[in-house]
Amino acid sequence: MRLLNHEEAGGDGGYQLNLIAESGIMAKTACTVPITQIILDEEIYPRSSVYPKRVSMFAENIRDGFKIDPIEVQIHPEYDDKYRILDGAHRWHAYKEIGATEIPAHIITLDGVDPILYAAKKAIGPLQLTEEEARTTARRAFQNNSRLTSAEIGKAIGRSRRTVDSYIVDLRAATQMELNFKIFCMNYLGIPQERIALRLGQTRDIIRDHLGKKAELPKSPNADLKRGFTVPQVAEKHGWTEPMVWSIALEGKSDLDRFKALNWGLRTWDLWNWNDCDKRFGDDWPGRIPAQMIAHILYYFSDQNDLVFDPMAGGGVVADTCLAFNRKCWSFDMDDRPDTRPEIEPCLWDITNLKWPIKGKTKPDLIIFDPPYFKKQSNNYDPDGISGMSKAKYLKFLENFFSLAHLNAKKSTQMAFINADWRDFQNTPAKNEIRVNSILINDYLWILNQSGWQETHIFQAPLSSERFKANVVSAMQKRKIIGVTSRYVIISKKK
Ligand SMILES: C[S@@+](CC[C@H](N)C(=O)[O-])C[C@H]1O[C@@H](n2cnc3c(N)ncnc32)[C@H](O)[C@@H]1O
Repeated sequence: MRLLNHEEAGGDGGYQLNLIAESGIMAKTACTVPITQIILDEEIYPRSSVYPKRVSMFAENIRDGFKIDPIEVQIHPEYDDKYRILDGAHRWHAYKEIGATEIPAHIITLDGVDPILYAAKKAIGPLQLTEEEARTTARRAFQNNSRLTSAEIGKAIGRSRRTVDSYIVDLRAATQMELNFKIFCMNYLGIPQERIALRLGQTRDIIRDHLGKKAELPKSPNADLKRGFTVPQVAEKHGWTEPMVWSIALEGKSDLDRFKALNWGLRTWDLWNWNDCDKRFGDDWPGRIPAQMIAHILYYFSDQNDLVFDPMAGGGVVADTCLAFNRKCWSFDMDDRPDTRPEIEPCLWDITNLKWPIKGKTKPDLIIFDPPYFKKQSNNYDPDGISGMSKAKYLKFLENFFSLAHLNAKKSTQMAFINADWRDFQNTPAKNEIRVNSILINDYLWILNQSGWQETHIFQAPLSSERFKANVVSAMQKRKIIGVTSRYVIISKKK
């Protein structure tokens, strides 16, 4: 039996890719794969359809006993038990046509090579892509990875760099604007250039170039603000977030003027309560806290340009409020959302190996620490986070975290620790509740003191979102159950 190579057989592709040869990081495993485990993924398939004539020709060759080159597949990124075709869609159809249940395949590991471009380069071996196929593939590849150059895309799809430029001109402009905006926002929050570069997967030179033009970026939104457009209008028009527009709209203003502009009354006493979170700041996030509360912490316990450290940032309300109040802010969370929240750097605080996530001498002026309130909302957080811990471990974590924060704080650093009483009141009448199950504010105060901090203020900031339904309230009252709406902001200094 003779082995036909792809080109002889009019195959789907036939020569070694430069892209792969250059990177030299591809692994291949030869095997046979059940046909039903193979998927033709339109996301990476460069052709608009398969050609029936080529399928028939392959089917005939297989029936005649010619051995056909294995198709190339990779493990499907979403389904572990499936493979998607990188090269060989026609051969796969042919094997199905003759009723085969298995197909010879090479399982490819594309380490660092874009699967769209790999598939395209394979496809153009026997037959160039049509204009529409080339355009769609180029756009898909760029949308998938905006760091690809037009030359790289062009090499894979068989088009010149300039043709690729024309295919993706609008996408590139939008990506540039987006990148500009992200860099500007992270820079505004005082994140150092090397961390911006790392976070956005760009070189430091690119970050420096963008920042060189940073004076230009706010000009047009500023002009619109001066013309009388509102902050939401300007945000929408320029694709900015509202807090970023506030940051330029309020430039040069005092904190008190900022409170006024945002329509927030300033609380003078130690009871801070609000009916709702201001939806302009932070994302809809489990356990979201009101931006008004953050603004009060900033007003009373920091100055403009100070650096705020937010170790469990969640929906980003602290960073957003810092933008509106001209504070720098370094935010971290285990939940990584690079596209929408690049300013929140990924960080899992791991109790077995607790480390400060940044190197360097810069220490925060203020730490705003809003962890999960033990098991409250635990269903909505990642179980690897601290709300998945037992009570003893949760408290131990806080003790270790406070000690680490103490080590990494300045003498003058203050910490705002936000938490609520935890009582296991479900179905338990108040007089039968057991203290051993609860965590109350005095437990937190004790731990803070153990780890070198001394509380100076305790603000009551009751949970506003705590809305019980009337029938639940009535059942609680009948059973003499006391619910929890308490929440506290404990301000501490280093002892
Ligand atoms: C109460 S939420 C913060 C809410 C935030 N202040 C807001 O208003 O949007 C607590 C956050 O802690 C994060 N978290 C929990 N355990 C963590 C851990 N071990 N390391 C990093 N983040 C953690 C969760 O992902 C969650 O976003």
